[in-house]
Amino acid sequence: MNIAANPVVEADQTIYLKDYQKPSFLVDSIHLDIQVFADHTNVNSKLVMQRQTAGDLVLLGRDLELKAIRLNGKTLDNTEYSLNSEQLVIQNAPENSIIETEVVIHPESNTMLEGLYQAASDLFVTQNEPEGFRKITFYPDRPDVLSVFTTRVEADKKFPVLLANGNLIEKGEAGEGRHYAIWQDPTKKPAYLFACVIGDLAVLKDTFVTSEGRNVALEIYAEEKDIPKCHIAMQALKHSMCWDEEHYGLPYDLDIYMIVATSAFNMGAMENKGLNIFNTSCVLADEEYTTDAAIMQVQAVIAHEYFHNWTGNRITCRDWFQLCLKEGLTVFRDQSFTEDLQSAAVQRIDDVAVLKGHQFPEDSGPLSHPPRPDHFVEINNFYTATVYEKGAEINRMMATLLGKEKFRKGTDEYFKRHDGQAVTVEDWVAALTAGSGVDLSNFLTWYNQPGTPKLEAKGEYDETTQTYRLNLKQSLKANAKYPNLKAVPIPVALALFDAASGEQLVLESEALVENAVKDGVYLFEQNEASIEFKNVMTKPVVSLLRNFSAPVNLEFNYSDEDLAFLLQYETNGFNQWQATQTLLERILLNGHSSDIYVQAMKNALPEVIKKDPLLASRLFDVPTEGYLGSRIDANYNPLEIQEKRNSLLDTLANAFGAFCKEAYLALDPANETEFSQAMGVRALKNILLAMIARQGDESAFELADAQYKSTKNMSERLGALRVLVWNDAPQAEAALIDFYLRFKDEALSMDQWFMVQAAHPKANAETIAYLTSHPDYDLGVPNRIRSVTGGLNANPVNTWSFGVQHFVGLAKYLDEKNPIIGSRLLQALSRWYTLAEPQRSQVKADLEALKPLVKSKNVSETLNSILNA
Ligand code: TRP
Ligand code: ZN
Repeated sequence: MNIAANPVVEADQTIYLKDYQKPSFLVDSIHLDIQVFADHTNVNSKLVMQRQTAGDLVLLGRDLELKAIRLNGKTLDNTEYSLNSEQLVIQNAPENSIIETEVVIHPESNTMLEGLYQAASDLFVTQNEPEGFRKITFYPDRPDVLSVFTTRVEADKKFPVLLANGNLIEKGEAGEGRHYAIWQDPTKKPAYLFACVIGDLAVLKDTFVTSEGRNVALEIYAEEKDIPKCHIAMQALKHSMCWDEEHYGLPYDLDIYMIVATSAFNMGAMENKGLNIFNTSCVLADEEYTTDAAIMQVQAVIAHEYFHNWTGNRITCRDWFQLCLKEGLTVFRDQSFTEDLQSAAVQRIDDVAVLKGHQFPEDSGPLSHPPRPDHFVEINNFYTATVYEKGAEINRMMATLLGKEKFRKGTDEYFKRHDGQAVTVEDWVAALTAGSGVDLSNFLTWYNQPGTPKLEAKGEYDETTQTYRLNLKQSLKANAKYPNLKAVPIPVALALFDAASGEQLVLESEALVENAVKDGVYLFEQNEASIEFKNVMTKPVVSLLRNFSAPVNLEFNYSDEDLAFLLQYETNGFNQWQATQTLLERILLNGHSSDIYVQAMKNALPEVIKKDPLLASRLFDVPTEGYLGSRIDANYNPLEIQEKRNSLLDTLANAFGAFCKEAYLALDPANETEFSQAMGVRALKNILLAMIARQGDESAFELADAQYKSTKNMSERLGALRVLVWNDAPQAEAALIDFYLRFKDEALSMDQWFMVQAAHPKANAETIAYLTSHPDYDLGVPNRIRSVTGGLNANPVNTWSFGVQHFVGLAKYLDEKNPIIGSRLLQALSRWYTLAEPQRSQVKADLEALKPLVKSKNVSETLNSILNA
């Protein structure tokens, strides 16, 4: 029976975690033969399968042209299997079934960047996570089916590079100007980790010797001209390999580790076993062409994908609901790694800024879901800030609570128990519990509930008894879909300071504290609790959630004076920064005076600039318009927020006055030998330059122009360009032309050129029209699309006016061409319902008009969720 011609339209395509069933057949081995031609690709496969439980033999396949299928050597005709647009089913297949298929696919016209696709005229690559492998061949494409892959790749010799996972075991001539290579990956893996690459690329080579004495060949493939930009990634890779041995006892397991860079990629990078494929934006790093932030990003992503080798590849997910098992843990690991590369406080500040700026809004809107969702329509829609960032926070909380040693015992136990398996979040928490000897099972609640808990804290000092009491209360907003919300375990890291001296009080002695505060951390697990600190001689200043010890919204009755105190005396850099943010929010939204803030900054800065210029630069952060908007749940007026913020920026620029220019002129990144220090000086100088310009100081444009012209460093060049362009300086036009001519062949630099213009504070619909009709704008390259949308979103007033048409138009266009990206871009509009009228109704109408026009599961699931807000 062939039902492909008459596909069943399923009303509800929702998949539920509770319906999980083991696969009926496992795959002992797979042999793949992939022959790439200019106008099609042949894929022949041989699966050695074995029955595990009762049921049909199910192979998933999408957009495959089936030429032949054999079961145990015998060709099947179309009455012996059923086939629809999603799967091929064989009933009553024998215990041991060898399935051979021959299919034809079309990577040359695959614009979705999923499965095997042509990424450039001379490059074919794969992206199979989560469900791309079914677009290459028929296969039980689910992460709990692990197999040994042998891959033969064949192509024209104009593609000299033929790569796949594992070790190269053979290569040779295939006739008619063609050649082949055979790769074998000895470790069992799920299909989403399969990769192959066919192309014409140059390579940077290095080697690494593991703690076990294994020699590993390291290879980074990129376009010839970009090879000099691969050295930072190579160093980061070696550093990551050492770091994982040292911190987790995890050495690399194969003889070769390859990374391939492509500009046509939906996400940052992909951890395919032994053959990572990267977006160029996450590999290429060079001070002349990419910013300092991008250089940090490259190091973080290299580490992230490398760390996946153990947390994701050796131990993988049982099903896609468990995505945060691998992503949350791997993000936590890459964050810890990066904290060692630069100011740890700034790394934490930047990570929390992402959490509060993206994950918190997501979790308070229509796309809110638990870190481990319990249902989905399209799994690609669940590669979210909640899964990644909140997932990382859950691991961080458990690590904070356990301390280094016990956490390591827990992870050791996890790798010992589950190496080679596909497991669940429960398995992870159980292993951590067993290894550490500390019961962490309450943390499962964090994985299963949506929403950001509110943590209300009230402090009371009693002079007569010399006690300080802290009352804590936690709550979660009611949620119709999750009616039984429970209290979660919240590690509250805290410190008390002596208000007069600024010294931190010692709390270690058990006698001082009624409930146990261990190593400065109190585990708050109930709905309400109080802690009492005794022998506190004078009224202290308290600092709560140090280092952001839990992903919660804190409400604490700090006075502005307390916050100014913390800005000056808190030794935890994160909470020092948090004090500036809370003060600024009060000035902005509650009309507090800025004097206390400015004075505290002036007191604190000279010292911080000397010690940690990067942290100093972050202390100048003013909450973005987007962040401020995300804190408003109804009657949000973007213009009003913009005006308030602009007037605060003016006030601050004037209040800091001459300080800015003096500091700017005194700072020189060339005096710094460490990259992280020089990066800090550059960041700080750029902020100061923007402030000088805001003061209306005539010389600001000359300083900016001089900085632009004298530097070879992209962060300095871009900082100057921004000041010129965003202030419509007389030098702006020439600088933009110069930038274009200098970098027109450097895609990553050009992304910045687009972004700077899209983010102009006075950008309008014409600006965006000019950029999107520019010959260098390319809807086939997600990076370029994002450079414009990213710039546009810097300005919520624009996002919510003409930007709506831009996003709706992209979602419509990409719905068929690249639904993964179409859906992600549409998420930018998810908080439409918070807008004040009449904007709210206008945006709603635009979204509703889109509904009948979209076909993909990706875009329609997102659109439906958004409209259900
Ligand atoms: N697993 C990748 C990571 O390291 C995520 C990823 C890369 C991805 N490419 C993708 C997810 C395409 C979905 C679709 O985080
Ligand atoms: Zn990842």
